[in-house]
Amino acid sequence: MEINPTTPAPSGDPALVRDVKKRRTFAIISHPDAGKTTLTEKLLLFGGAIQMAGTVKARKSGRYATSDWMEVERERGISVASSVMQFSHGDCVFNLLDTPGHKDFSEDTYRVLTAVDAAIMVVDAAKGVEEQTIKLLEVCRLRDTPIITFINKMDREVREPLELLDEIESILKIHCAPVTWPIGMGKRFQGVYHLLNNEILRFKAGEENANQQFESLQGLGEAALKERFPLEADTLLSEIELVRGAGDSFDLDAFLQGKQSPVFFGSGINNFGVREVLHALADWAPPPQPREAVERVVLPAEPKFTGFVFKIQANMDPQHRDRIAFFRVCSGRYSPNMKVRHRRTGKDMKIANAVVFMANERTRMDDAVAGDIIGIHNHGQLHIGDTLTEGEALQYKGIPYFAPELFSRPRLRDPLRAKQLNKGLLELGEEGAVQVFEPFTDNTLLIGAVGQLQFEVVAHRLKTEYGVDASFENAGIYTARWVTSPDAQHLAEFTKSNTLKLAKDVDGNLVYLADTRVNLMLAQERWPKIAFHDTREHGQLLNSA
Ligand code: G4P
Repeated sequence: MEINPTTPAPSGDPALVRDVKKRRTFAIISHPDAGKTTLTEKLLLFGGAIQMAGTVKARKSGRYATSDWMEVERERGISVASSVMQFSHGDCVFNLLDTPGHKDFSEDTYRVLTAVDAAIMVVDAAKGVEEQTIKLLEVCRLRDTPIITFINKMDREVREPLELLDEIESILKIHCAPVTWPIGMGKRFQGVYHLLNNEILRFKAGEENANQQFESLQGLGEAALKERFPLEADTLLSEIELVRGAGDSFDLDAFLQGKQSPVFFGSGINNFGVREVLHALADWAPPPQPREAVERVVLPAEPKFTGFVFKIQANMDPQHRDRIAFFRVCSGRYSPNMKVRHRRTGKDMKIANAVVFMANERTRMDDAVAGDIIGIHNHGQLHIGDTLTEGEALQYKGIPYFAPELFSRPRLRDPLRAKQLNKGLLELGEEGAVQVFEPFTDNTLLIGAVGQLQFEVVAHRLKTEYGVDASFENAGIYTARWVTSPDAQHLAEFTKSNTLKLAKDVDGNLVYLADTRVNLMLAQERWPKIAFHDTREHGQLLNSA
């Protein structure tokens, strides 16, 4: 990223510079069941942030029914606290941001990825690259986020490692640089060969001890290898030769640019390979980076506090209508009760009682620097994409709306509540809970989401916050695209020919609603001078409206 010459010099405060450098803010992306929860837990155990296995698993509650989910949400704290987990290991302070999956997959899952500096991609070695991983990686690619790959479940009968790497490279379009290489698999999984350290780490099954030391064999020659691993040595030697000869070797710059991913093989459930991944995060993943605002690039160690909201968690309890805004600090230092300027409204506000996330609650502290996440209680003033600063007029970029993949139309059980329904939907749309569109040829608002849970949350909030009882019907739409064109006349022609398929979003931007994938492709072919966008920035007014 180019650093704007008008950027103020970094802080002269060495403590701030030191604290920022220690931060590693990351997410784990994977398809359900690849092992994200297991790896999260093992990382937390390894980092000493939790003492007992099962702590994270117990809340892996994407699997429970919606009614149970509401119940859990009501007991706030649980889901809020586990959305961000901070722990220290060695010299680093890690912020692990949860990417909700399973049933609670939603636009939040995507947005969390706009607030991290690196990601770990977990791939199930038996299944290879799966659908949700592809989607999440596309979102990482918007910001060229560096990716560390962990190929999990090597203790099972899985696919050939070379085939897996080929698949990652061809489907995800990212170069793979194996750092460890598996020796056997399943019942004959012997461990991994560390290509950079010329070391073999022996696998030993065992779920309990996160800090277990695996036997390490340094610099074994060919003869010694054959003696130790008579069945696997030949394959290992030829694969290593192939990987060394034809594959990429690890290149830190390519990794930091999001072009190459270091690859580790292991077994999360057995703690095997977890330490290597954590070390890769500490040694290679970037600390908080300069962040682009509309006005200028902000450096993480600048003294003045700034940051942005990337997620809103509404309290589902009707007695308490406050919300928690998840806020990524981008510069300066947070202190309790500090006064900040809310850029969108131009008003000043005090951040009282912010939640500072610690996986280990005993060491709770009221301090946060760039890379950290704080939870700000508010009553609806804060929307997704909002920037808070210590006075400077700044608007952070890169927190987009994502093209919805599910659409529905609300149906009122009491037709007299139509006004409240529209008010509620528009407000929830502005907040970012769901996307709201006004079709050109229909008076009913259309609701778009990335995950089914968003509709359920909206139905619940309409009832508790607006007294509106509504159900949602499938609207039979495949996807939406924001449309723009530099040629106003061309855009007017497009609009005239497609009135039935057009709508406006909450900010008045023009949106094309395609009922099928083919319909979208045809529209793109027929109107080559119209740009169809699958994301748009919060608060951004496109030239079409
Ligand atoms: P997710 O969050 O990505 O959805 O995956 P999760 O960690 O819950 O793992 C999914 C399943 O895969 C779990 O089994 C888990 O125990 C298993 N698993 C994770 N890592 C490994 C591994 O390295 N090797 C093997 N063999 N299995 C692994 P489950 O039966 O669905 O759940 P549970 O009954 O074990 O909790």
